[in-house]
Amino acid sequence: MLAVSSNKGGVGKTTLATNLAIYLRALYEDLPILIFSLDDQGIIERMFGLEGRPPGDGNVKHGWAERSFERVIHLGQYGVHYVLSAPDTALLKARAEDPMTLRRILERTEWPGLVILDTKSDLEGLTRNALYAADRVLMPVSDWASLEEAGKGFAILRRAGFPERARIVLALVDRRTHLESTGEELAERLREEIRRRGWSLYETSISRSPRVEALNSETGHPLSILHAARGTAVHRELRELADEVARDLGLGPGQRTLPGGSRRPPVGSRGAVASFKSALLGGRVRR
Ligand SMILES: Nc1ncnc2c1ncn2[C@@H]1O[C@H](COP(=O)(O)OP(=O)(O)OP(=O)(O)O)[C@@H](O)[C@H]1O
Ligand SMILES: [Mg+2]
Repeated sequence: MLAVSSNKGGVGKTTLATNLAIYLRALYEDLPILIFSLDDQGIIERMFGLEGRPPGDGNVKHGWAERSFERVIHLGQYGVHYVLSAPDTALLKARAEDPMTLRRILERTEWPGLVILDTKSDLEGLTRNALYAADRVLMPVSDWASLEEAGKGFAILRRAGFPERARIVLALVDRRTHLESTGEELAERLREEIRRRGWSLYETSISRSPRVEALNSETGHPLSILHAARGTAVHRELRELADEVARDLGLGPGQRTLPGGSRRPPVGSRGAVASFKSALLGGRVRR
């Protein structure tokens, strides 16, 4: 399981989680991807929900109560499976005191592929559950404030005994030149500090792009970078980041060329899902 977490808001967690789900699904046709969010903003269903099909009534809260997400998983856009977000996380939080709860629920769910989890910008009970359940925690860092917030995430993982699961991703790097310094210089200083602290950092950084911002805000349905921003720097970077994440998870090489091009591609078939034989089972690497 892969979680994306930062105590700082607006650093690109959801954009990263949702688009990595789409890129990894496209790179590994036989790898079922399940995404859901512990946030209550409802972006997951707006991005992955299929038009005209009632998604059913169960959401993350029901899966949590039933101790398995099995009943509430839907096949969505881009061939990615998703669970509807809980419209209100207060009740869910009350059931998240034990930080191992989500790990146990995911084990019972027995998802035969990769689970990607988007979290809220806090370090409360639900997010702690995500940190405890994740094989990898991606922490987007875009400035000094988010770097300090990543430090808090590391502290939780250290206390839990697995700080080595965290990975920093430099995000929202502004490559345009400013009067005082360039965003690239800031990114380099952040990189130095991350190295000095001994944190693991993915090589690929994600640029700030007006095109990506527009994809999220133009309509009520955020569009995929893979399908709607081809040819942009961010498209290339996400492909590279997906490759890096895949290597880190022990997946073999993915497809060299990515499908896409149409803004709304057909959903993946259940047949492809059934024939899945990946190295990943239950979110863990199988050797
Ligand atoms: N690479 C990018 N370039 C430009 N804008 C981006 C990029 N990634 C994300 N954004 C924009 O930044 C804002 C925050 O992104 P996003 O919602 O992914 O962050 P978040 O960390 O999930 O936020 P929150 O803490 O509210 O959950 C959104 O308006 C999004 O469109
Ligand atoms: Mg978010």
